Amino acid sequence: MTGRLQDRPLPPGYRYYGSKRDSAAALPVEGAEVGPSEPNVHPEGSAHDCVLGPWVRVGARTSLSEVWMGAYSYIVSDSSATYSDIGKFCSIARDVRINPGNHPMWRAALHHFSYRSVSYQLGEEDDHEFFEWRRSHRVVLGNDVWIGHGATILPGVTLGTGAAIGAGAVVSKDVPDFMIVGGVPAQPIRERFPKEIQIGLKAIAWWNWDHERIAAALPDFRKLGAEAFVEKYA
Ligand SMILES: CC(C)(COP(=O)(O)OP(=O)(O)OC[C@H]1O[C@@H](n2cnc3c(N)ncnc32)[C@H](O)[C@@H]1OP(=O)(O)O)[C@@H](O)C(=O)NCCC(=O)NCCS
Repeated sequence: MTGRLQDRPLPPGYRYYGSKRDSAAALPVEGAEVGPSEPNVHPEGSAHDCVLGPWVRVGARTSLSEVWMGAYSYIVSDSSATYSDIGKFCSIARDVRINPGNHPMWRAALHHFSYRSVSYQLGEEDDHEFFEWRRSHRVVLGNDVWIGHGATILPGVTLGTGAAIGAGAVVSKDVPDFMIVGGVPAQPIRERFPKEIQIGLKAIAWWNWDHERIAAALPDFRKLGAEAFVEKYA
């Protein structure tokens, strides 16, 4: 999905965060009691121009800017994500960088004064066109993606549903659903499951179940492997 996040319709339980550490403003009613499903940004974390779903958790010293984060997804400490659409149930480890911005390699100067000009007193305005260019290279995560410690996901990359990104990977190309990748640049390690199980899991799409249904199926999530899970729920 493209367009500015504040213009997208909010599903139930999702909150728009306008400015840094805007959790109070994100509440449905000022002073309302915060329930456990309310998205939570650590006091030392920040979310600027973001939409966060129910049960979302953002860790300490993690900053999000123009990020949509689906229900139950979490990103732990010391990470950052920009211009990204993150699905539901994604697990993002510490020290992860999602969509670090490219610099203008075609210009005479790589340094950011040419677009962050105001803060250097070099221009009346920043270079909005340049930021639109960055904004157009969104990173997209499907559902239930796991990003390991210290990984970097480069601009414009899509990580498929159920993909696992190894610790320390630099991901420069799209990753298919249920693929495990690792290394610099990231290369396929193996598929998590044979194709028929992948198809079965996508047909079940448990990530779209409601909270109660997931709670009821919890023993099966714990005890059954993916194959038996697909057999039972297909
Ligand atoms: C990638 C990972 C998920 C393991 O996947 P796996 O399919 O079980 O991989 P294996 O351990 O069987 O290793 C398979 C091959 O991939 C390599 N490999 C494993 N992890 C790798 C990584 N992060 N980067 C590069 N190569 C990796 C192994 O060395 C092995 O190589 P070989 O075939 O040449 O011997 C795991 O190694 C990993 O990186 N986990 C991240 C843990 C983490 O960061 N947790 C944070 C908390 S959320």
